[in-house]
Amino acid sequence: MSEKQRNAVDLSHHLSEFAKTLEGRPPPGSNVKDVCRLIFLSTEYFPIESITVEYLKPSAFPLKPTDAVPHGTVLGWIANVLTGKAADKIIHDWVGRVHKPAYNDWKTLIDVGSSSAWMTTISILLNPGDSFICDRYAYNAALLQGRARGMHAVAVATDMDGLSAVDLERVLAGWDEKARGFKRPRVIYTQGGIQNPTGLLITAQRKKDIYDVAVRYDLIIVEDDPYYFQQASAPYGSRTGPKKQTDEEWLDNLVPSFLRFDYEGRVIRLDTFSKTIGPGGRLGYYTGPPLILEKLAAFHQGFINFPSGIAQAVIGELLHRFETEGFIRWLRGLTAQYEMRRNWTIDALYKALDVRPKDDWSRALTAYAPSNGQMSEKFTKTASLMSFVPPDGGMFMWFNIHLHNHPRYKALARQTSPAAAKNQLSTELWTAIYDAGVTFRRGELFAVEDDEERAKAGEEDVFLRASFSSGPREEFGEGDGYIRHRAY
Ligand SMILES: Cc1ncc(COP(=O)(O)O)c(C=O)c1O
Repeated sequence: MSEKQRNAVDLSHHLSEFAKTLEGRPPPGSNVKDVCRLIFLSTEYFPIESITVEYLKPSAFPLKPTDAVPHGTVLGWIANVLTGKAADKIIHDWVGRVHKPAYNDWKTLIDVGSSSAWMTTISILLNPGDSFICDRYAYNAALLQGRARGMHAVAVATDMDGLSAVDLERVLAGWDEKARGFKRPRVIYTQGGIQNPTGLLITAQRKKDIYDVAVRYDLIIVEDDPYYFQQASAPYGSRTGPKKQTDEEWLDNLVPSFLRFDYEGRVIRLDTFSKTIGPGGRLGYYTGPPLILEKLAAFHQGFINFPSGIAQAVIGELLHRFETEGFIRWLRGLTAQYEMRRNWTIDALYKALDVRPKDDWSRALTAYAPSNGQMSEKFTKTASLMSFVPPDGGMFMWFNIHLHNHPRYKALARQTSPAAAKNQLSTELWTAIYDAGVTFRRGELFAVEDDEERAKAGEEDVFLRASFSSGPREEFGEGDGYIRHRAY
């Protein structure tokens, strides 16, 4: 933190009607001046080998009451993880070390994971009927929560560098409240690191461009970023392989988050331990300007309370033992595991299909039926089956299935409608893949626009998201020609 940096600008006009009813009072036992207080894989990689818990006997307290306290030391230790001064600083120091926010008075606050953190964040910022901006395909649970609260998701175009700052500005500048039926969005929902569902990164330059638009239009950026540390060390197929670097250099070379560009305190970052330690911990943390974090703390105090003390004890103790260096080393090793799995997945695709560069200028690849392959439907030899961009990291792959080349698509679309044809063929495809032992998430789940809107916009294809986070190597297509993933 530099003395030259300034404090957060006043964002009180962004608070929802609900937030105004919340008293910005610190939760009991916490110190909102340094709000961080409470200290948390659907995968196979967990840093906890075993947990031993010893319970008191039901008869621990005699029926004739006594003032003796059984096992006070153990209970005291759990309480220390929650309230000890050192624990308090762990998260704040970590965020300062990793993200280096560009203003002075940023705070952190422990929460119960990012799903709940997004729910609380929209509750204190948006009223029912308000809107938020996101990619045309965005994390499904975030969309679901917003819609359930009567909020509108507004789609902005995306390219391989992330959400388009140019389209963002176009949408904001041309906002017609009457035609849209609701006010101009004040919030952007995005992921700063690897994105769900696309598996791609927003480049540093693009983040800066988006941030500049946010300043010009007085927007708040909510950066929900579970996969920040899972940035692969090299693109798929890179000949040079991972760079030789120390763990500290590895951390410093990650593409920075939106926080690094945040000189006005208009980014609310949601971190979680779900993808770095384990999803069952239900532990994460917010970073943002003091006013917003006070409101979030008040929300927690009234409606959620704080994360489980047991989860905090287990994970807090792990962080104490690992210390910063150990945790960076753990993250780096974890990322290397996922990178290997990404490479297995794409290797398997190359093995099963005829995969070629889509064009001369992008990283996208197109897959065709292999010349010796057997297809149940008759495709022309030159018809592509799908395209995809090798993920920049994370645990997902996003496939653009070329339904427009399906032999039955055009006739079906004529008989019914393009949206109905898409729906029928994508259901058939998903079912056939499922019957072959592979589960994907259908792209429709992540779509901001409905079937008709997407068809009207000329989108003929469908998307599928695969997860490569678990399963043995043999299931990644070795031997039987299938890519077997367990989707999350
Ligand atoms: C973008 C995004 N946000 C949030 C979550 C959920 O995080 P948590 O387990 O902390 O609720 C996920 C998990 O899949 C995710 O992909």
